[in-house]
Amino acid sequence: MASPRATGQQQPPLIDDPIREHQKAAAARAAAALVEDGMRLGLGSGSTFAHLLPAIAERGYAGLRCVATSPATAAAAGALGLVVQSLDEVGELDMAIDGADQIDEQGWLVKGGGGAHTREKIVAASARRFVVIASADKAVASIEPPIPLELLRFGVGRTLLSLTPARLRGVDDSPDGGLIADYFGPVGDPRELARRLSATPGVVEHGLFAPEMVSTILIARDSGVELREGAKPS
Ligand code: 5RP
Repeated sequence: MASPRATGQQQPPLIDDPIREHQKAAAARAAAALVEDGMRLGLGSGSTFAHLLPAIAERGYAGLRCVATSPATAAAAGALGLVVQSLDEVGELDMAIDGADQIDEQGWLVKGGGGAHTREKIVAASARRFVVIASADKAVASIEPPIPLELLRFGVGRTLLSLTPARLRGVDDSPDGGLIADYFGPVGDPRELARRLSATPGVVEHGLFAPEMVSTILIARDSGVELREGAKPS
């Protein structure tokens, strides 16, 4: 059976490392403080993001309209009484908040560890301000493989061949019918790789997020939450 992680479904925070969990919660609280009444808010996916919903619910915002990036996030937000609507119903978002697998010094992100990166990228691109929350272990000097991919089911063997080395995770379809895979080749310049992945027929979306998509990065360390301004004006 597919694990919740592999299907991009949100799961309760794993208590595998209390320090990391503490950092995730601290980053989520810092992001919750940016949310204002009446906002149209994009909700990410993953174990870091999972700390945000209770932080938002605790503060009791009025009039939020939320768009979720995964069925699990939609269910978790709905269970807390948040209003969840489709992106097309809500339209432009004031803010989106999400986690990341890697954040480099130039502000490139890798997302899609949970396979939700296609929806996450659409939601982030629909938001005037995109806020990324992470524990300190997500900050890296340079982006490393694997890079998550969502692939069209048709001709997936041919698509994988053209991306060698890449392989399907094998258990995790996206909620939109795509197949989730990872690219294991060299990254080099992330912009070049992003261009190549986007130009490959059969690739629905890849997990590289360019710095100009990101407004604010909140990285929680033992010493406090570091705020990095991203390249997207907020
Ligand atoms: C899901 C994502 C997540 O935001 C990313 O994988 C980080 O997850 P976590 O906070 O559980 O480490 O992109 O597609």
